[in-house]
Amino acid sequence: MSISRTKIAVLLATSEVDREATVKGWVRTKRESKNVAFIALNDGSTIKNIQIVADTSTFSESFLRRVNTGACLSVTGKIVASQGKGQSVELIAETIDVLGEANPDEYPLQPKKHSLEFLREIAHLRMRTNTFSAVFRIRHTLSFAVHQFFNEKGFVYLNTPIITGSDAEGAGEMFKVTSFDLKNPPRTEEGEIDYTRDFFGKETNLTVSGQLEAELGAMALSEVYTFGPTFRAENSNTSRHLAEFWMIEPEVAFAEINDNMNLAEEFLKYVINYTLDHCQEDLEFLNNRQEQEEKTRPQNERSAMGLIEKLEFVAKNTFERVTYTEAIDILKNSKPNKKKKFNYLIDEWGADLQSEHERFLVEKHFKKPVILFDYPAKIKAFYMRLNEDGKTVRAMDILFPGIGEIVGGSQREERYDVLKEKMKAFDIPEEEMWWYLETRKFGTAPHSGFGLGFERLVQFVTGMTNIRDVIPFPRAPKNAEF
Ligand code: 4AD
Ligand code: MG
Repeated sequence: MSISRTKIAVLLATSEVDREATVKGWVRTKRESKNVAFIALNDGSTIKNIQIVADTSTFSESFLRRVNTGACLSVTGKIVASQGKGQSVELIAETIDVLGEANPDEYPLQPKKHSLEFLREIAHLRMRTNTFSAVFRIRHTLSFAVHQFFNEKGFVYLNTPIITGSDAEGAGEMFKVTSFDLKNPPRTEEGEIDYTRDFFGKETNLTVSGQLEAELGAMALSEVYTFGPTFRAENSNTSRHLAEFWMIEPEVAFAEINDNMNLAEEFLKYVINYTLDHCQEDLEFLNNRQEQEEKTRPQNERSAMGLIEKLEFVAKNTFERVTYTEAIDILKNSKPNKKKKFNYLIDEWGADLQSEHERFLVEKHFKKPVILFDYPAKIKAFYMRLNEDGKTVRAMDILFPGIGEIVGGSQREERYDVLKEKMKAFDIPEEEMWWYLETRKFGTAPHSGFGLGFERLVQFVTGMTNIRDVIPFPRAPKNAEF
């Protein structure tokens, strides 16, 4: 009878020795000496490998030639206390099945340092590296923490549509969804494409955000959140933008802007603390990785804190809350503005903040996370609640060191007449948004919400500098392989 497989994480966590076990995984390295081969095997359950000891009296040379980096093995043997350093136990192999070979002349992942750029081109294999397996275990833990946080608070997880018939949010360019034959779409008498004959009988797109539908949920279930994919067809080739990314959007009835800021701050600290508690080994690995990277940078460009220290700092300290107006004053009088170092100089109230300004505020001025609120109405979305001054809205953005904007949200305009006026001013067709307006007509209530870009959170927690390295298969301009 075969023994069932033990995960390497479980095996390494026990100190029980002198018993049989079967492990399955992929070869990271093989080291051969005179009478024995040492095989480091990894199954992704932990960053650590199990050391397999294969005696050459049991396994022939020709058999061991099939055991190369990348090959997949099933190994049964005896767990013993390890004599070598670096591991507590090792497995003395009795039988080895090669489930899948990996030809060393072709397998692209060799036991040496590969650049992240190169690994991006082999995304189908990069999860087999220490760095990416750590990143994706942390990504999993963060998403689990997101659900746990909201579940503990009694929020309802609401799935909002991915295909949407509205183009109203204005959060970004959209991808069209159609079942037409693009070479020959049906046309109206005027020669326009006749969308009434398309699959949904109207023009449809991939959603940029679940917010508008989440608001409908909050007006019935009080507290809801979404956690799903969103799509933006902007041509932004940056280290912080994806064309397909995951967003978490809580929406809360009876909450005003300050409640919204409190919720967002508590939420971010909770998920960061959860990861610190549950991903120690992976974080230590990434912490050391970052330390090595830093050493290759000039002294004045190195970050002041290590990865774990930075996470603990953010989890412990109160975020700075600053109005847009105060921020503009700080920026106007800042050194880079006076010395014309910003690409976009700040000369008057009303200017939209660029990421260089956000990062100055967070990294140079306040040196901690910042919540900016009360933005000019003109530079924010139509649904944000107008303040008494008639020119600012109850918007709030959270800015993080190294990332810039990680959260965008607001108190929503719940007053029917004011919202209708705003829609007119923003050129948003009422007929398309009748359902949104009806929530303001029937039992309206103050409410607030925000959106957290999940990949930007994973970037922050793992210290990865490019957003394409924190999602398994990134979608970006000219990039949809895998
Ligand atoms: O600020 P945004 O556009 O806000 C909304 O979509 C609102 N509907 C949210 C709400 O109030 N419910 O996007 C929210 C967050 C940003 O702060 C950023 O973290 C992330 O989503 N984000 C992106 N992440 C990766 N790639 C992109 N192209 C992103 N665009 C926004
Ligand atoms: Mg935003």
